[in-house]
Amino acid sequence: MKKKADHYNKQFSGVTAEDMLRQILELHGDKAVFSTSLGAEDQVITHMLMQINPEAKIFTLDTGRMFPETYEVIEKTEARYNMRIRVFFPDYKAVEHMVNTRGINLFYYSIENRKLCCHIRKIEPLKRALRGNQVWITGLRREQSPTRLDMRYSEWDEGNSIIKVNPLLDWTEKQVWDYIHQHKIPYNTLHDKGFPSIGCQPCTRAIEAGEDVRAGRWWWENPDSKECGLHKA
Ligand code: ADX
Ligand code: SF4
Repeated sequence: MKKKADHYNKQFSGVTAEDMLRQILELHGDKAVFSTSLGAEDQVITHMLMQINPEAKIFTLDTGRMFPETYEVIEKTEARYNMRIRVFFPDYKAVEHMVNTRGINLFYYSIENRKLCCHIRKIEPLKRALRGNQVWITGLRREQSPTRLDMRYSEWDEGNSIIKVNPLLDWTEKQVWDYIHQHKIPYNTLHDKGFPSIGCQPCTRAIEAGEDVRAGRWWWENPDSKECGLHKA
């Protein structure tokens, strides 16, 4: 499978995002899954997938700390495409233990706490969501972060033993928004209020003009290490 990931990476050079998705669905069928955070990039991919195959598998990780606006996008998207986005939740016992020993907003007090929270609320549910699949489709873009510059269209994710495919890797922010407006795709209204990148509510804030697009994520941490572990830097 690792070889296949390298092979796809070469095969996908110069191929449109739609065609990458079409090929992946043709080759891997229901063993391909798309993880959506309901952000702008993810909405583009959801739209493309729904045109290719309305049965395409889409899931989201509900950490329990999402913005109300994010739940609204889930609902609007399901209504628009007449489908369900599968929702994965964290293990309640692990969340209870963490919160009752370290506090409700533990993530502000140490990087260790922040990583533990991301692990329990995102990484463990992600592993469950990916289990049994061959391909994991994401909405990652190179431009988003210094940690994402070296990513490829298709890469082997050792931790999850899965081929990870990033069809929008080379898209610009403008391309994403042109596509959304052109196809009248529902999107998170926080994007209109200074939030280019949206994660959990306590760990995401609006950015000022000129700031990096992910400056509002875990803003108290160093930009070179700001990944929650979903995407290993
Ligand atoms: S994060 O690692 O910093 O949270 P980011 O918000 O940039 O990631 O999103 C990058 C990609 O990770 C998304 O396009 C999506 O594929 C996946 N992703 C991030 N958060 C979630 C989530 N809560 N549920 C499902 N997929 C997610
Ligand atoms: Fe917890 Fe914040 Fe990570 Fe969300 S982003 S899982 S609230 S530390």
